[in-house]
Amino acid sequence: MRIAITGGTGFVGSHLASHLAEQGHELVLVSRGKRPSGAPGAAVTRVAADVVSGSGLVAAFGGCDAVVNLVAVIVERREQTFDAVNREGAAKVAHAAMEAGVTHLVHLSAIGADPDPRLGYLASKWSGEQAIRISGISHTIIRSSLVFGPGDGFFVKLARLIRRTPPLFPLPIAGDGRTLFQPIAVQDVARCIGIALERGPDSRVFAIGGPDHLSYEQIVDIIRREVLSLPRIKVHVPVPAIRPVAALMAAVMRDPLVTPAQLDLLGHHNITVTGAVAADFGFEPQRFADRVSYLRRRSR
Ligand SMILES: NC(=O)c1ccc[n+]([C@@H]2O[C@H](COP(=O)([O-])OP(=O)(O)OC[C@H]3O[C@@H](n4cnc5c(N)ncnc54)[C@H](OP(=O)(O)O)[C@@H]3O)[C@@H](O)[C@H]2O)c1
Repeated sequence: MRIAITGGTGFVGSHLASHLAEQGHELVLVSRGKRPSGAPGAAVTRVAADVVSGSGLVAAFGGCDAVVNLVAVIVERREQTFDAVNREGAAKVAHAAMEAGVTHLVHLSAIGADPDPRLGYLASKWSGEQAIRISGISHTIIRSSLVFGPGDGFFVKLARLIRRTPPLFPLPIAGDGRTLFQPIAVQDVARCIGIALERGPDSRVFAIGGPDHLSYEQIVDIIRREVLSLPRIKVHVPVPAIRPVAALMAAVMRDPLVTPAQLDLLGHHNITVTGAVAADFGFEPQRFADRVSYLRRRSR
């Protein structure tokens, strides 16, 4: 197949591109071109387009059998708002795909997508799903739990925070640490998307996660064991006390350690059934605890 991946240069996108290229597909990686990306393979074309303005999308999708939409923001910046990118951008991708004659749109959403407008990011992910549904394009929607792997935006930062906590300080845990997550490896997300592409459109919403439900505190403990040689005392810090710091970081830092949207995630369990990937996609996903050695590498 010839497949366009909007957001194909991002974290999930670059892993998906490697996976689909290995399967022999021809790829068009679509993004604004704001970040460096690996050397293009023989069957990979890079195209600049913007889901906020819609410019370049129809041309990028020309001749494609399918489009995978991976564009979303978790921090709002200038014109890159949750609404403009995660909802309206999804609508623009769907309409451009239809105009280009594409017959299948796979859209990656998030577990916890919810119409409650107080949830910011998660509300915009829900609205993005609705935009795809009402556009009329044949589609598959996959909702993922937190994704881990080299280059991720959550676990790498948590490891950095843990590593940077001075030796005599207790490790801060945001909230009560009991919120459940189901980390899924980025390679497994790519496999699920690849299988969805091969199968064709499906009106069900698929929720995917790894094989374990892990509390936030268990995740911190797994990472701590991986990146620190000595155990540390932990201290629970109420989320409302961290929120202003997260808002400030999001406003002034290009790559904030923690974002308000990530704090929102701590307010709700972010899980599906543990056998979801095996039941819907026919393979056993990898365990987070077995695959965290990439977090030992230091990043900024
Ligand atoms: N990472 C997770 O844990 C996780 C969990 C659940 C669901 N998801 C979903 O998975 C998808 C991919 O997430 P990710 O972590 O891979 O994101 P990411 O690393 O931030 O990548 C975002 C991609 O979108 C492109 N992009 C951003 N704004 C754009 C615009 N206006 N027009 C065109 N392209 C634009 C970026 O390239 P440029 O900046 O160069 O344009 C980049 O290629 C998202 O839909 C996210 O909601 C992720």
